[in-house]
Amino acid sequence: ASANIGVVGLAVMGSNLARNLASREGNTVAIYNRSYSKTETLLTEHPEANFVPASTYEEFAASLSKPRTAIIMVQAGKGTDAVIDALTEAFEPGDIIVDGGNALFTDTIRREKAVRETGINFVGAGISGGEEGALLGPSIMPGGSAEAWETLGPILKSIAAVAEGEPCVTHVGTDGAGHFVKMIHNGIEYADMQLIAEAYDLIRQGTGATPAEIADIFAEWNKGELESYLIEITAEVLRQVDAKTDKPLVDIILDQAGSKGTGVWTVQTALNLGVPVSGIAEAVFARAVSSKPAQRAASAALPGPSSVPAVEDKAAFIEDVRQALYASKIIAYSQGFDAIVAGAEEYNWDIKKGEIAKIWRGGCIIRARFLNRITEAYAENPGLVALVTAPYFTDAMAGTQDSWRRVVAGAAAAGIPTPAFSSSLAYYDSLRAPRLPAALVQGQRDFFGAHTYKRVDMDGTFHTLWSGDRSEIEATDSH
Ligand code: 6PG
Repeated sequence: ASANIGVVGLAVMGSNLARNLASREGNTVAIYNRSYSKTETLLTEHPEANFVPASTYEEFAASLSKPRTAIIMVQAGKGTDAVIDALTEAFEPGDIIVDGGNALFTDTIRREKAVRETGINFVGAGISGGEEGALLGPSIMPGGSAEAWETLGPILKSIAAVAEGEPCVTHVGTDGAGHFVKMIHNGIEYADMQLIAEAYDLIRQGTGATPAEIADIFAEWNKGELESYLIEITAEVLRQVDAKTDKPLVDIILDQAGSKGTGVWTVQTALNLGVPVSGIAEAVFARAVSSKPAQRAASAALPGPSSVPAVEDKAAFIEDVRQALYASKIIAYSQGFDAIVAGAEEYNWDIKKGEIAKIWRGGCIIRARFLNRITEAYAENPGLVALVTAPYFTDAMAGTQDSWRRVVAGAAAAGIPTPAFSSSLAYYDSLRAPRLPAALVQGQRDFFGAHTYKRVDMDGTFHTLWSGDRSEIEATDSH
């Protein structure tokens, strides 16, 4: 038994994580893949790495020192259950099985419960950063027991990205907390990507700038408060020229966005928890609309605006779009953190919001400069009821909202779809509204279903006798 950590599943993410582990001082990494050829390839391509190959689960278990620790890196789904069963069989009480895939957090809760009965620890860990992150340092969001974290923590800290001197990993909470937070990360990722795409579209349609020129704008934005990985790679994608046609690659890529499910899960979960994550939801729906070619083709002749106002001052317009992007982005993160708060309450997780913002500063797809501000906001006020109400963000809104309104209004007038920009602004204005038309909705509900309502001026639950003399009675219970 010479390895201190093992990896099961050697596709790109697994191989890169195994190489990352092997590159750190003191690590010897047991590796296993269902078909041995992948194991062999990894060994041949990286003779320098400290690997101990295994061709069976028994061999794999025998090569690990105790307590055995293994990270599963297989495509989330049924395959994960099969690997967990095999490892549970080969391992002993006290050992640790980590699922590093994008598992649905409720699956992780179920698996943790089942594995715990054997005395083995099960940890669902969200790992973000794509292929490069896995190799050089991802952001890691582990759940599971505090006991497992004691053994696992130092190993994960050694391979995680480092942001401002701190490793981008923390024990998020028990059982499925890690995968829950990774799911929300991906939801924010969807919103962020959609917002950036809307900003690009507005600038392109509004100013006629070429993708390469817009790449320069994004590169410039990346020097300021919007600095983030996604803005950086956007500039790279926009600058890319297709070798076959000599056209901007973005004009050659089919405009239908796919998805693997984590964004949908975020929205489904938020709906169940009653948390409005409208920016994330619109991002998921925007991908869905894009992927309906028949509906889009049938709708191509639908009437648009009869005249489109011209953008007079291009530089001012681009700055408006930048401000609108920043404001909408704050809303997306705010909604994501609201979902974390609601999830923690529902599932009894002690999630430190500021710590989550910290471990997202490096390694992960949504890494961004302004995450420091989120950490500060929760440090100042751990009970913050809406992130956007923290002083820094309120100030940011004061500085951006005029631009934001101009952009959303202009986009509507010009017939340019901005679902994420617009819905974020509508959410923001709903939060601020002193009175919402929800009062009328309650009135309608009471009219057709006697669902009752409360009054602003006295306690109790009331119903108007709509089909009688329309007097008000006090109702016993609300429904
Ligand atoms: C990450 C990414 C990663 C993956 C997503 C993409 O954090 O490293 O989020 O998990 O790229 O699954 O999701 P879609 O395929 O749904 O866009």
